[in-house]
Amino acid sequence: MLAALISFSFFLLSVPVTGSSAFETKCLAFKPEKFVPGATRNVLQYVTANTTLSFPDNVASCNRGTQAVAANVCRVALSIKTSGHSNITFEAWLPEDWSGRFLATGNGGIDGCTVGIKYEDLAYTSSKGFAAVGSNNGKNGTDGLPFFNNPETVIDFAWRSLHTSTDAGKSLTRELYGESHSKSYYIGCSLGGRQGIKSAEKFPGDFDGIVAGAPAVDFNDLVSWRARFFTITGAVGTSDFIPATAWKTWIHDEVLNQCDTIDKAKDGIIEDPTLCKFDPSTLRCNGTSTTNCLNDSQVEQLKTIFSDYRYPDGTLIYPAMQPGSEVGAVDRLYAGAPFAYSEDWFKYVVYNDPSWDASKFDLEDTIAADKLNPGDIRTYPTSLPGFERKGGKILTYHGQQDNQITTFNTIRWYNALKGRRSTEAMDNWIRFFRISGMNHCNSGPGAWVLGQGGNAAAAGVPFERETNVLKAVVDWVEQGVAPSYIEGTKFVNDTVSLGVDFTRRHCKYPLRNTLVGADFKNPDNWECK
Ligand SMILES: *[C@@H]1O[C@H](CO)[C@@H](O)[C@H](O)[C@H]1NC(C)=O
Ligand SMILES: *[C@@H]1O[C@H](CO)[C@@H](O)[C@H](O)[C@H]1NC(C)=O
Ligand SMILES: *[C@@H]1O[C@H](CO)[C@@H](O)[C@H](O)[C@H]1NC(C)=O
Ligand SMILES: *[C@@H]1O[C@H](CO)[C@@H](O)[C@H](O)[C@H]1NC(C)=O
Ligand SMILES: *[C@@H]1O[C@H](CO)[C@@H](O)[C@H](O)[C@H]1NC(C)=O
Ligand SMILES: *[C@@H]1O[C@H](CO)[C@@H](O)[C@H](O)[C@H]1NC(C)=O
Repeated sequence: MLAALISFSFFLLSVPVTGSSAFETKCLAFKPEKFVPGATRNVLQYVTANTTLSFPDNVASCNRGTQAVAANVCRVALSIKTSGHSNITFEAWLPEDWSGRFLATGNGGIDGCTVGIKYEDLAYTSSKGFAAVGSNNGKNGTDGLPFFNNPETVIDFAWRSLHTSTDAGKSLTRELYGESHSKSYYIGCSLGGRQGIKSAEKFPGDFDGIVAGAPAVDFNDLVSWRARFFTITGAVGTSDFIPATAWKTWIHDEVLNQCDTIDKAKDGIIEDPTLCKFDPSTLRCNGTSTTNCLNDSQVEQLKTIFSDYRYPDGTLIYPAMQPGSEVGAVDRLYAGAPFAYSEDWFKYVVYNDPSWDASKFDLEDTIAADKLNPGDIRTYPTSLPGFERKGGKILTYHGQQDNQITTFNTIRWYNALKGRRSTEAMDNWIRFFRISGMNHCNSGPGAWVLGQGGNAAAAGVPFERETNVLKAVVDWVEQGVAPSYIEGTKFVNDTVSLGVDFTRRHCKYPLRNTLVGADFKNPDNWECK
Protein backbone atom coordinates (compact mmCIF):
# COMPACT_ATOMS: atom_id res chain seq x y z
CA MET A 1 0.00 0.00 0.00
CA LEU A 2 2.73 2.38 1.06
CA ALA A 3 4.85 1.37 -1.90
CA ALA A 4 1.94 1.96 -4.21
CA LEU A 5 1.37 5.37 -2.69
CA ILE A 6 5.01 6.31 -3.08
CA SER A 7 5.16 5.18 -6.67
CA PHE A 8 1.87 6.97 -7.36
CA SER A 9 3.14 10.26 -6.00
CA PHE A 10 6.44 9.70 -7.82
CA PHE A 11 4.40 9.31 -10.98
CA LEU A 12 2.62 12.59 -10.29
CA LEU A 13 5.85 14.43 -9.68
CA SER A 14 7.63 13.08 -12.74
CA VAL A 15 4.78 13.15 -15.21
CA PRO A 16 6.58 14.10 -18.38
CA VAL A 17 5.90 17.28 -20.24
CA THR A 18 5.97 16.19 -23.87
CA GLY A 19 7.85 17.82 -26.74
CA SER A 20 11.20 19.53 -26.99
CA SER A 21 10.31 22.15 -24.47
CA ALA A 22 10.65 19.78 -21.51
CA PHE A 23 14.20 18.89 -22.40
CA GLU A 24 14.95 22.46 -23.33
CA THR A 25 13.72 23.65 -19.94
CA LYS A 26 15.72 20.99 -18.15
CA CYS A 27 18.81 21.91 -20.17
CA LEU A 28 18.55 25.62 -19.50
CA ALA A 29 18.00 25.04 -15.76
CA PHE A 30 21.05 22.77 -15.57
CA LYS A 31 23.99 23.84 -13.37
CA PRO A 32 26.78 21.79 -14.90
CA GLU A 33 29.61 23.52 -13.01
CA LYS A 34 28.14 22.17 -9.75
CA PHE A 35 28.97 18.61 -10.71
CA VAL A 36 32.52 18.97 -12.01
CA PRO A 37 35.37 19.87 -9.64
CA GLY A 38 37.35 22.92 -10.76
CA ALA A 39 34.85 23.87 -13.44
CA THR A 40 33.59 27.23 -14.61
CA ARG A 41 30.85 27.57 -17.16
CA ASN A 42 31.47 28.99 -20.64
CA VAL A 43 28.30 27.97 -22.48
CA LEU A 44 24.96 26.42 -21.66
CA GLN A 45 22.68 26.25 -24.62
CA TYR A 46 19.86 24.21 -26.07
CA VAL A 47 20.68 23.68 -29.75
CA THR A 48 18.11 22.38 -32.20
CA ALA A 49 18.87 20.07 -35.09
CA ASN A 50 20.06 21.79 -38.27
CA THR A 51 21.54 24.75 -36.41
CA THR A 52 24.97 25.83 -37.58
CA LEU A 53 27.12 26.72 -34.60
CA SER A 54 30.04 29.09 -34.84
CA PHE A 55 32.98 29.28 -32.47
CA PRO A 56 34.05 32.86 -31.87
CA ASP A 57 36.55 31.83 -29.17
CA ASN A 58 38.57 29.66 -31.48
CA VAL A 59 42.17 30.65 -32.07
CA ALA A 60 43.01 31.58 -35.66
CA SER A 61 45.40 28.67 -36.33
CA CYS A 62 42.50 26.29 -35.77
CA ASN A 63 40.74 27.59 -38.85
CA ARG A 64 37.57 26.22 -37.27
CA GLY A 65 34.58 28.28 -38.23
CA THR A 66 31.33 26.39 -37.90
CA GLN A 67 29.67 23.05 -37.23
CA ALA A 68 26.27 21.85 -38.37
CA VAL A 69 24.36 20.23 -35.53
CA ALA A 70 22.41 17.14 -36.53
CA ALA A 71 20.20 16.53 -33.47
CA ASN A 72 18.64 18.51 -30.63
CA VAL A 73 21.29 18.74 -27.91
CA CYS A 74 21.96 20.38 -24.61
CA ARG A 75 25.39 21.92 -25.17
CA VAL A 76 27.59 22.45 -22.14
CA ALA A 77 31.00 24.10 -22.36
CA LEU A 78 33.23 24.33 -19.32
CA SER A 79 36.72 25.31 -18.41
CA ILE A 80 38.13 22.72 -15.99
CA LYS A 81 41.25 23.22 -13.92
CA THR A 82 43.57 20.21 -14.04
CA SER A 83 46.39 21.58 -11.86
CA GLY A 84 47.66 24.92 -10.56
CA HIS A 85 49.05 25.68 -14.01
CA SER A 86 46.73 24.00 -16.45
CA ASN A 87 43.13 23.72 -17.55
CA ILE A 88 41.11 22.12 -20.27
CA THR A 89 38.32 23.48 -22.41
CA PHE A 90 35.56 20.89 -22.39
CA GLU A 91 32.24 20.35 -24.12
CA ALA A 92 29.40 17.92 -23.64
CA TRP A 93 26.70 17.51 -26.26
CA LEU A 94 23.83 15.78 -24.53
CA PRO A 95 21.20 14.73 -27.05
CA GLU A 96 17.51 14.98 -26.36
CA ASP A 97 17.05 11.58 -27.97
CA TRP A 98 19.51 9.76 -25.71
CA SER A 99 20.35 6.09 -26.21
CA GLY A 100 21.69 5.73 -22.67
CA ARG A 101 25.25 5.48 -24.02
CA PHE A 102 28.18 7.70 -23.13
CA LEU A 103 31.03 8.51 -25.53
CA ALA A 104 34.25 10.53 -25.47
CA THR A 105 35.97 11.85 -28.59
CA GLY A 106 39.70 12.28 -29.13
CA ASN A 107 42.03 14.84 -30.67
CA GLY A 108 44.56 14.93 -33.51
CA GLY A 109 48.12 16.02 -34.23
CA ILE A 110 49.22 18.37 -31.50
CA ASP A 111 46.05 20.32 -32.05
CA GLY A 112 44.04 21.89 -29.38
CA CYS A 113 41.63 23.88 -31.35
CA THR A 114 38.74 25.27 -29.06
CA VAL A 115 39.46 24.75 -29.37
CA GLY A 116 40.90 21.19 -30.55
CA ILE A 117 37.56 19.85 -29.81
CA LYS A 118 36.45 17.71 -32.71
CA TYR A 119 33.05 19.31 -33.12
CA GLU A 120 32.36 17.14 -36.15
CA ASP A 121 32.67 14.06 -33.93
CA LEU A 122 30.44 15.58 -31.25
CA ALA A 123 27.82 16.33 -33.91
CA TYR A 124 28.13 12.87 -35.43
CA THR A 125 27.98 10.84 -32.22
CA SER A 126 25.32 12.94 -30.48
CA SER A 127 23.14 12.47 -33.56
CA LYS A 128 23.50 8.71 -33.03
CA GLY A 129 22.19 9.12 -29.48
CA PHE A 130 25.44 9.18 -27.50
CA ALA A 131 25.95 11.67 -24.68
CA ALA A 132 29.22 12.90 -26.18
CA VAL A 133 32.15 14.86 -24.78
CA GLY A 134 35.34 16.36 -26.19
CA SER A 135 38.10 18.65 -25.03
CA ASN A 136 40.94 20.76 -26.34
CA ASN A 137 43.35 18.23 -24.78
CA GLY A 138 44.85 20.91 -22.56
CA LYS A 139 45.88 23.55 -25.06
CA ASN A 140 44.58 25.79 -27.81
CA GLY A 141 45.91 26.13 -31.31
CA THR A 142 47.91 23.87 -33.60
CA ASP A 143 51.39 24.79 -32.43
CA GLY A 144 53.42 23.51 -29.48
CA LEU A 145 54.12 26.83 -27.78
CA PRO A 146 51.67 26.26 -24.89
CA PHE A 147 53.83 23.29 -23.83
CA PHE A 148 56.87 25.50 -23.35
CA ASN A 149 58.07 25.09 -19.75
CA ASN A 150 54.65 23.75 -18.84
CA PRO A 151 54.83 20.05 -17.97
CA GLU A 152 51.28 20.10 -16.57
CA THR A 153 49.93 20.90 -20.02
CA VAL A 154 51.98 18.02 -21.44
CA ILE A 155 50.35 15.70 -18.89
CA ASP A 156 46.90 16.94 -19.95
CA PHE A 157 47.86 16.25 -23.55
CA ALA A 158 49.25 12.78 -22.82
CA TRP A 159 46.26 11.41 -20.85
CA ARG A 160 44.74 13.70 -18.21
CA SER A 161 42.48 15.75 -20.43
CA LEU A 162 40.67 12.68 -21.75
CA HIS A 163 40.34 11.09 -18.32
CA THR A 164 39.11 14.35 -16.74
CA SER A 165 36.63 14.85 -19.58
CA THR A 166 35.36 11.32 -19.21
CA ASP A 167 34.76 11.71 -15.47
CA ALA A 168 33.11 15.08 -16.01
CA GLY A 169 30.98 13.82 -18.89
CA LYS A 170 29.72 10.80 -16.99
CA SER A 171 28.68 13.02 -14.06
CA LEU A 172 26.91 15.50 -16.29
CA THR A 173 25.13 12.69 -18.10
CA ARG A 174 23.87 11.27 -14.81
CA GLU A 175 22.79 14.67 -13.50
CA LEU A 176 21.03 15.86 -16.63
CA TYR A 177 19.15 12.69 -17.53
CA GLY A 178 18.68 11.53 -13.95
CA GLU A 179 20.27 8.15 -14.58
CA SER A 180 23.74 6.83 -15.29
CA HIS A 181 24.89 5.82 -18.74
CA SER A 182 24.55 2.17 -19.73
CA LYS A 183 27.81 1.66 -21.62
CA SER A 184 30.76 3.90 -22.30
CA TYR A 185 32.64 4.34 -25.58
CA TYR A 186 35.56 6.18 -27.11
CA ILE A 187 36.32 7.14 -30.71
CA GLY A 188 39.46 8.78 -32.04
CA CYS A 189 42.11 8.57 -34.73
CA SER A 190 45.84 9.32 -34.96
CA LEU A 191 46.76 11.08 -31.71
CA GLY A 192 43.17 10.21 -30.83
CA GLY A 193 43.85 6.53 -31.53
CA ARG A 194 46.72 6.73 -29.07
CA GLN A 195 44.52 8.41 -26.49
CA GLY A 196 42.14 5.46 -26.66
CA ILE A 197 44.91 2.91 -26.12
CA LYS A 198 46.41 5.00 -23.32
CA SER A 199 43.06 5.06 -21.61
CA ALA A 200 42.74 1.26 -21.81
CA GLU A 201 46.22 1.05 -20.27
CA LYS A 202 45.88 3.63 -17.51
CA PHE A 203 42.15 3.82 -16.81
CA PRO A 204 40.70 0.47 -17.86
CA GLY A 205 37.40 1.35 -16.20
CA ASP A 206 36.75 4.41 -18.35
CA PHE A 207 35.41 2.74 -21.51
CA ASP A 208 33.67 -0.50 -22.45
CA GLY A 209 34.41 -0.11 -26.15
CA ILE A 210 37.19 1.78 -27.91
CA VAL A 211 37.57 2.66 -31.59
CA ALA A 212 41.24 3.55 -32.10
CA GLY A 213 42.15 4.57 -35.66
CA ALA A 214 45.75 4.83 -36.90
CA PRO A 215 46.95 4.87 -33.29
CA ALA A 216 50.02 7.04 -32.66
CA VAL A 217 51.43 4.41 -30.29
CA ASP A 218 55.10 4.43 -29.35
CA PHE A 219 54.58 8.17 -29.56
CA ASN A 220 58.13 9.29 -28.66
CA ASP A 221 59.66 7.23 -31.45
CA LEU A 222 56.92 8.28 -33.86
CA VAL A 223 57.86 11.92 -33.27
CA SER A 224 61.49 11.09 -34.03
CA TRP A 225 60.67 8.97 -37.07
CA ARG A 226 58.75 11.90 -38.48
CA ALA A 227 61.48 14.41 -37.62
CA ARG A 228 63.99 12.30 -39.51
CA PHE A 229 62.41 12.67 -42.96
CA PHE A 230 63.63 16.24 -43.26
CA THR A 231 67.19 15.04 -42.72
CA ILE A 232 66.73 12.29 -45.33
CA THR A 233 65.15 14.40 -48.07
CA GLY A 234 67.02 17.64 -47.38
CA ALA A 235 65.40 21.01 -47.82
CA VAL A 236 63.48 22.05 -50.91
CA GLY A 237 65.91 23.04 -53.64
CA THR A 238 68.98 21.32 -52.19
CA SER A 239 70.86 19.22 -54.72
CA ASP A 240 69.31 15.78 -54.16
CA PHE A 241 65.86 16.97 -53.15
CA ILE A 242 63.14 15.06 -54.96
CA PRO A 243 60.27 17.36 -55.91
CA ALA A 244 56.64 16.61 -55.07
CA THR A 245 55.65 16.11 -58.69
CA ALA A 246 58.14 13.23 -58.99
CA TRP A 247 56.76 11.52 -55.89
CA LYS A 248 53.17 12.01 -57.02
CA THR A 249 53.64 10.77 -60.54
CA TRP A 250 56.44 8.50 -61.71
CA ILE A 251 57.71 7.33 -58.31
CA HIS A 252 54.21 6.41 -57.10
CA ASP A 253 53.52 4.86 -60.52
CA GLU A 254 56.58 2.65 -60.17
CA VAL A 255 55.44 1.53 -56.68
CA LEU A 256 52.10 0.53 -58.21
CA ASN A 257 53.86 -1.03 -61.17
CA GLN A 258 55.74 -3.28 -58.79
CA CYS A 259 53.00 -3.92 -56.21
CA ASP A 260 49.46 -3.09 -57.31
CA THR A 261 48.57 -6.52 -58.67
CA ILE A 262 50.00 -8.67 -55.87
CA ASP A 263 46.36 -8.77 -54.66
CA LYS A 264 45.23 -9.61 -58.26
CA ALA A 265 43.41 -6.29 -58.74
CA LYS A 266 44.79 -3.53 -60.93
CA ASP A 267 42.95 -0.80 -59.07
CA GLY A 268 45.71 1.51 -57.86
CA ILE A 269 45.29 0.11 -54.34
CA ILE A 270 47.77 -2.12 -52.54
CA GLU A 271 45.77 -4.38 -50.22
CA ASP A 272 48.75 -5.56 -48.18
CA PRO A 273 51.85 -3.33 -48.30
CA THR A 274 53.83 -5.88 -46.24
CA LEU A 275 54.01 -7.92 -49.46
CA CYS A 276 55.34 -4.96 -51.47
CA LYS A 277 59.14 -5.16 -51.56
CA PHE A 278 59.54 -1.95 -53.52
CA ASP A 279 62.89 -1.68 -55.29
CA PRO A 280 63.69 1.95 -56.25
CA SER A 281 66.79 0.99 -58.22
CA THR A 282 64.59 0.37 -61.27
CA LEU A 283 64.29 4.18 -61.37
CA ARG A 284 68.04 4.77 -61.54
CA CYS A 285 69.14 6.99 -64.42
CA ASN A 286 71.22 5.25 -67.05
CA GLY A 287 72.44 5.92 -70.56
CA THR A 288 69.00 5.63 -72.11
CA SER A 289 67.00 7.45 -69.44
CA THR A 290 67.92 10.84 -68.04
CA THR A 291 64.51 12.28 -67.18
CA ASN A 292 62.04 10.94 -64.62
CA CYS A 293 64.82 8.98 -63.02
CA LEU A 294 66.92 9.04 -59.85
CA ASN A 295 70.65 9.33 -59.31
CA ASP A 296 72.48 7.11 -56.83
CA SER A 297 71.96 9.30 -53.80
CA GLN A 298 68.26 9.66 -54.55
CA VAL A 299 67.89 5.91 -54.88
CA GLU A 300 69.52 5.64 -51.45
CA GLN A 301 67.04 8.22 -50.10
CA LEU A 302 64.13 6.04 -51.17
CA LYS A 303 65.77 2.95 -49.74
CA THR A 304 66.17 4.70 -46.39
CA ILE A 305 62.56 5.92 -46.36
CA PHE A 306 61.28 2.42 -47.10
CA SER A 307 63.55 0.75 -44.52
CA ASP A 308 63.08 0.40 -40.76
CA TYR A 309 64.60 3.08 -38.53
CA ARG A 310 67.11 1.26 -36.31
CA TYR A 311 69.73 1.89 -33.66
CA PRO A 312 73.32 1.19 -34.80
CA ASP A 313 73.15 -2.22 -33.09
CA GLY A 314 70.18 -3.15 -35.26
CA THR A 315 67.45 -2.74 -32.65
CA LEU A 316 64.28 -1.40 -34.18
CA ILE A 317 63.28 2.16 -33.33
CA TYR A 318 60.28 2.53 -35.62
CA PRO A 319 59.22 0.65 -38.76
CA ALA A 320 59.57 1.73 -42.39
CA MET A 321 57.08 3.87 -44.25
CA GLN A 322 54.76 1.57 -46.16
CA PRO A 323 55.01 1.91 -49.94
CA GLY A 324 51.93 3.29 -51.69
CA SER A 325 51.49 6.43 -49.57
CA GLU A 326 53.73 8.68 -51.69
CA VAL A 327 51.02 10.97 -53.04
CA GLY A 328 49.98 12.05 -49.55
CA ALA A 329 53.36 11.78 -47.85
CA VAL A 330 54.91 14.51 -50.02
CA ASP A 331 52.58 17.05 -48.49
CA ARG A 332 54.36 16.89 -45.17
CA LEU A 333 56.92 14.15 -44.51
CA TYR A 334 58.76 14.43 -47.87
CA ALA A 335 58.07 18.14 -48.31
CA GLY A 336 61.63 19.28 -47.66
CA ALA A 337 60.64 21.22 -44.54
CA PRO A 338 60.63 20.33 -40.85
CA PHE A 339 57.57 18.31 -39.82
CA ALA A 340 55.90 20.91 -37.62
CA TYR A 341 54.52 18.62 -34.91
CA SER A 342 57.91 16.99 -34.40
CA GLU A 343 59.78 20.29 -34.51
CA ASP A 344 57.49 21.81 -31.88
CA TRP A 345 57.67 18.69 -29.73
CA PHE A 346 61.45 18.92 -29.53
CA LYS A 347 61.47 22.68 -29.06
CA TYR A 348 58.75 23.03 -26.46
CA VAL A 349 58.50 19.64 -24.80
CA VAL A 350 61.73 17.63 -25.00
CA TYR A 351 64.28 20.47 -24.73
CA ASN A 352 62.31 23.61 -23.83
CA ASP A 353 64.64 25.34 -26.26
CA PRO A 354 62.95 27.37 -29.04
CA SER A 355 66.26 27.59 -30.90
CA TRP A 356 66.44 23.82 -31.47
CA ASP A 357 67.28 23.24 -35.14
CA ALA A 358 65.23 20.58 -36.94
CA SER A 359 67.83 20.22 -39.69
CA LYS A 360 70.30 18.87 -37.12
CA PHE A 361 68.00 16.18 -35.80
CA ASP A 362 69.85 12.92 -35.13
CA LEU A 363 69.87 9.70 -33.13
CA GLU A 364 70.77 11.54 -29.92
CA ASP A 365 67.45 13.37 -30.15
CA THR A 366 65.60 10.11 -30.62
CA ILE A 367 67.27 8.70 -27.52
CA ALA A 368 66.60 11.86 -25.48
CA ALA A 369 62.91 11.98 -26.37
CA ASP A 370 62.33 8.32 -25.67
CA LYS A 371 64.17 8.47 -22.37
CA LEU A 372 62.27 11.56 -21.22
CA ASN A 373 58.87 10.13 -22.23
CA PRO A 374 57.15 13.46 -21.46
CA GLY A 375 53.96 13.15 -19.46
CA ASP A 376 54.22 9.37 -19.84
CA ILE A 377 52.98 9.75 -23.40
CA ARG A 378 54.77 6.69 -24.82
CA THR A 379 51.70 4.42 -25.10
CA TYR A 380 53.20 1.09 -26.09
CA PRO A 381 51.49 -1.47 -23.87
CA THR A 382 52.42 -5.10 -24.50
CA SER A 383 49.42 -6.22 -22.49
CA LEU A 384 46.23 -4.55 -21.26
CA PRO A 385 45.23 -6.87 -18.44
CA GLY A 386 42.81 -4.54 -16.66
CA PHE A 387 40.87 -3.71 -19.79
CA GLU A 388 40.85 -7.26 -21.06
CA ARG A 389 39.75 -8.69 -17.69
CA LYS A 390 36.74 -6.44 -17.41
CA GLY A 391 35.58 -7.48 -20.88
CA GLY A 392 36.47 -4.27 -22.74
CA LYS A 393 36.65 -4.35 -26.54
CA ILE A 394 39.04 -2.51 -28.85
CA LEU A 395 38.50 -2.06 -32.56
CA THR A 396 41.57 -0.62 -34.22
CA TYR A 397 41.93 0.20 -37.90
CA HIS A 398 44.69 1.69 -39.99
CA GLY A 399 44.80 3.04 -43.55
CA GLN A 400 47.18 1.02 -45.71
CA GLN A 401 48.49 4.13 -47.41
CA ASP A 402 48.68 6.27 -44.31
CA ASN A 403 50.93 9.21 -45.17
CA GLN A 404 51.68 10.26 -41.58
CA ILE A 405 51.92 7.10 -39.45
CA THR A 406 53.15 3.94 -41.10
CA THR A 407 50.70 1.08 -40.78
CA PHE A 408 53.65 -1.23 -40.18
CA ASN A 409 53.79 0.22 -36.68
CA THR A 410 50.27 -0.93 -35.85
CA ILE A 411 51.17 -4.41 -37.07
CA ARG A 412 54.25 -4.29 -34.83
CA TRP A 413 52.20 -3.14 -31.85
CA TYR A 414 49.43 -5.68 -32.38
CA ASN A 415 52.01 -8.45 -32.51
CA ALA A 416 53.77 -7.15 -29.39
CA LEU A 417 50.42 -7.19 -27.61
CA LYS A 418 49.70 -10.68 -28.88
CA GLY A 419 53.02 -12.16 -27.81
CA ARG A 420 52.66 -15.93 -27.78
CA ARG A 421 48.90 -15.92 -27.63
CA SER A 422 46.67 -17.23 -30.38
CA THR A 423 44.79 -14.96 -32.77
CA GLU A 424 41.57 -16.42 -31.32
CA ALA A 425 42.55 -15.26 -27.82
CA MET A 426 43.18 -11.76 -29.16
CA ASP A 427 39.93 -11.80 -31.14
CA ASN A 428 38.02 -11.94 -27.87
CA TRP A 429 38.92 -8.38 -27.03
CA ILE A 430 40.94 -6.61 -29.75
CA ARG A 431 40.54 -6.73 -33.51
CA PHE A 432 42.65 -4.90 -36.06
CA PHE A 433 41.35 -4.05 -39.54
CA ARG A 434 43.66 -2.96 -42.33
CA ILE A 435 41.91 -0.44 -44.58
CA SER A 436 43.35 -0.53 -48.06
CA GLY A 437 43.46 2.71 -50.05
CA MET A 438 42.94 4.88 -46.97
CA ASN A 439 45.26 7.76 -46.09
CA HIS A 440 45.72 9.11 -42.58
CA CYS A 441 42.36 8.47 -40.85
CA ASN A 442 40.35 9.37 -43.94
CA SER A 443 40.43 10.00 -47.71
CA GLY A 444 42.29 8.08 -50.39
CA PRO A 445 41.38 5.98 -53.44
CA GLY A 446 39.98 3.07 -51.42
CA ALA A 447 36.69 2.31 -49.68
CA TRP A 448 37.65 4.43 -46.70
CA VAL A 449 34.37 5.63 -45.22
CA LEU A 450 33.70 3.52 -42.13
CA GLY A 451 31.70 5.77 -39.81
CA GLN A 452 34.97 6.79 -38.16
CA GLY A 453 33.80 10.36 -37.70
CA GLY A 454 36.02 13.21 -38.73
CA ASN A 455 33.88 14.76 -41.45
CA ALA A 456 30.56 14.62 -43.20
CA ALA A 457 31.41 11.75 -45.55
CA ALA A 458 32.47 9.58 -42.64
CA ALA A 459 28.98 9.81 -41.23
CA GLY A 460 27.42 8.98 -44.60
CA VAL A 461 27.30 5.20 -44.18
CA PRO A 462 24.51 3.27 -42.45
CA PHE A 463 24.87 3.01 -38.68
CA GLU A 464 25.19 -0.76 -38.91
CA ARG A 465 27.93 -3.00 -37.63
CA GLU A 466 28.99 -4.20 -41.10
CA THR A 467 29.67 -0.69 -42.38
CA ASN A 468 30.31 1.44 -39.30
CA VAL A 469 33.18 0.94 -36.86
CA LEU A 470 31.37 2.68 -34.01
CA LYS A 471 28.26 0.51 -34.34
CA ALA A 472 30.53 -2.52 -34.73
CA VAL A 473 32.09 -1.89 -31.33
CA VAL A 474 28.69 -1.14 -29.75
CA ASP A 475 27.26 -4.46 -30.94
CA TRP A 476 30.40 -6.26 -29.83
CA VAL A 477 30.11 -4.79 -26.31
CA GLU A 478 26.34 -5.03 -25.93
CA GLN A 479 25.43 -8.13 -27.91
CA GLY A 480 28.69 -10.04 -28.04
CA VAL A 481 28.64 -9.92 -31.85
CA ALA A 482 32.24 -9.28 -32.89
CA PRO A 483 33.08 -7.83 -36.31
CA SER A 484 34.82 -10.20 -38.71
CA TYR A 485 35.27 -7.53 -41.38
CA ILE A 486 34.43 -3.87 -41.95
CA GLU A 487 32.83 -3.00 -45.26
CA GLY A 488 34.18 0.38 -46.28
CA THR A 489 32.42 2.67 -48.75
CA LYS A 490 33.88 4.80 -51.51
CA PHE A 491 31.51 7.61 -52.47
CA VAL A 492 31.74 9.12 -55.95
CA ASN A 493 34.29 11.92 -55.61
CA ASP A 494 34.05 11.36 -51.85
CA THR A 495 30.70 13.11 -51.92
CA VAL A 496 27.85 11.31 -50.21
CA SER A 497 25.16 12.96 -52.32
CA LEU A 498 26.77 11.64 -55.52
CA GLY A 499 26.18 8.05 -54.39
CA VAL A 500 28.34 5.00 -53.81
CA ASP A 501 31.18 4.24 -56.21
CA PHE A 502 32.11 0.89 -54.64
CA THR A 503 32.43 -0.92 -51.33
CA ARG A 504 35.05 -3.39 -50.10
CA ARG A 505 35.22 -5.63 -47.06
CA HIS A 506 38.42 -4.96 -45.15
CA CYS A 507 39.90 -7.99 -43.47
CA LYS A 508 40.74 -8.58 -39.85
CA TYR A 509 44.50 -8.84 -39.35
CA PRO A 510 46.37 -11.08 -40.02
CA LEU A 511 44.06 -11.99 -42.93
CA ARG A 512 44.58 -10.22 -46.24
CA ASN A 513 42.31 -9.41 -49.14
CA THR A 514 42.66 -11.06 -52.54
CA LEU A 515 40.54 -10.57 -55.64
CA VAL A 516 38.95 -13.84 -56.66
CA GLY A 517 36.53 -12.59 -59.33
CA ALA A 518 36.69 -10.11 -62.18
CA ASP A 519 35.25 -6.77 -61.05
CA PHE A 520 37.18 -5.27 -58.15
CA LYS A 521 34.27 -2.95 -57.37
CA ASN A 522 32.12 -5.91 -56.38
CA PRO A 523 32.79 -6.70 -52.70
CA ASP A 524 31.75 -10.33 -53.24
CA ASN A 525 34.73 -10.75 -55.54
CA TRP A 526 37.17 -10.40 -52.65
CA GLU A 527 38.25 -12.97 -50.11
CA CYS A 528 40.02 -12.58 -46.79
CA LYS A 529 42.70 -15.25 -46.61
C1 LIG B 1 17.02 18.96 -40.73
O1 LIG B 1 17.33 19.03 -42.12
C2 LIG B 1 17.04 17.82 -42.80
C3 LIG B 1 17.54 17.95 -44.21
O2 LIG B 1 17.46 19.25 -44.68
C4 LIG B 1 15.55 17.54 -42.72
O3 LIG B 1 15.27 16.32 -43.37
C5 LIG B 1 15.13 17.43 -41.25
O4 LIG B 1 13.75 17.27 -41.16
C6 LIG B 1 15.55 18.67 -40.48
N1 LIG B 1 15.33 18.42 -39.06
C7 LIG B 1 14.75 19.31 -38.26
C8 LIG B 1 14.54 18.91 -36.84
O5 LIG B 1 14.43 20.42 -38.64
C1 LIG C 1 44.13 28.21 -18.62
O1 LIG C 1 45.54 28.12 -18.52
C2 LIG C 1 46.22 29.05 -19.36
C3 LIG C 1 47.69 28.74 -19.29
O2 LIG C 1 48.13 28.68 -17.97
C4 LIG C 1 45.88 30.46 -18.92
O3 LIG C 1 46.50 31.38 -19.79
C5 LIG C 1 44.38 30.63 -19.00
O4 LIG C 1 44.03 31.90 -18.51
C6 LIG C 1 43.67 29.59 -18.19
N1 LIG C 1 42.25 29.70 -18.45
C7 LIG C 1 41.36 29.57 -17.50
C8 LIG C 1 39.94 29.76 -17.90
O5 LIG C 1 41.65 29.31 -16.34
C1 LIG D 1 41.76 28.19 -24.66
O1 LIG D 1 40.87 29.12 -25.19
C2 LIG D 1 39.74 29.36 -24.35
C3 LIG D 1 38.77 30.23 -25.10
O2 LIG D 1 39.36 31.41 -25.52
C4 LIG D 1 40.23 29.98 -23.06
O3 LIG D 1 39.16 30.21 -22.18
C5 LIG D 1 41.24 29.05 -22.39
O4 LIG D 1 41.79 29.65 -21.26
C6 LIG D 1 42.35 28.68 -23.33
N1 LIG D 1 43.13 27.63 -22.75
C7 LIG D 1 44.42 27.75 -22.50
C8 LIG D 1 45.07 26.56 -21.85
O5 LIG D 1 45.08 28.72 -22.79
C1 LIG E 1 71.26 13.93 -58.31
O1 LIG E 1 70.37 14.55 -59.26
C2 LIG E 1 70.03 15.88 -58.96
C3 LIG E 1 69.02 16.35 -60.00
O2 LIG E 1 67.87 15.54 -59.93
C4 LIG E 1 71.25 16.74 -58.92
O3 LIG E 1 70.90 18.05 -58.56
C5 LIG E 1 72.25 16.18 -57.93
O4 LIG E 1 73.45 16.92 -57.96
C6 LIG E 1 72.55 14.73 -58.22
N1 LIG E 1 73.36 14.21 -57.15
C7 LIG E 1 74.41 13.44 -57.39
C8 LIG E 1 75.16 12.94 -56.21
O5 LIG E 1 74.76 13.14 -58.51
C1 LIG F 1 67.39 2.44 -67.78
O1 LIG F 1 66.35 3.01 -66.97
C2 LIG F 1 65.06 2.78 -67.47
C3 LIG F 1 64.05 3.45 -66.51
O2 LIG F 1 64.57 4.51 -65.86
C4 LIG F 1 64.75 1.31 -67.55
O3 LIG F 1 63.49 1.11 -68.13
C5 LIG F 1 65.82 0.62 -68.38
O4 LIG F 1 65.62 -0.77 -68.32
C6 LIG F 1 67.21 0.93 -67.86
N1 LIG F 1 68.20 0.37 -68.73
C7 LIG F 1 69.22 -0.35 -68.28
C8 LIG F 1 70.16 -0.85 -69.31
O5 LIG F 1 69.39 -0.55 -67.07
C1 LIG G 1 34.26 14.10 -59.96
O1 LIG G 1 35.45 14.91 -59.99
C2 LIG G 1 36.07 14.96 -61.24
C3 LIG G 1 37.40 15.66 -61.09
O2 LIG G 1 37.35 16.71 -60.19
C4 LIG G 1 35.13 15.68 -62.20
O3 LIG G 1 35.71 15.74 -63.48
C5 LIG G 1 33.83 14.88 -62.28
O4 LIG G 1 32.89 15.56 -63.09
C6 LIG G 1 33.23 14.68 -60.90
N1 LIG G 1 32.10 13.77 -61.00
C7 LIG G 1 30.90 14.10 -60.57
C8 LIG G 1 29.84 13.06 -60.75
O5 LIG G 1 30.66 15.16 -60.04
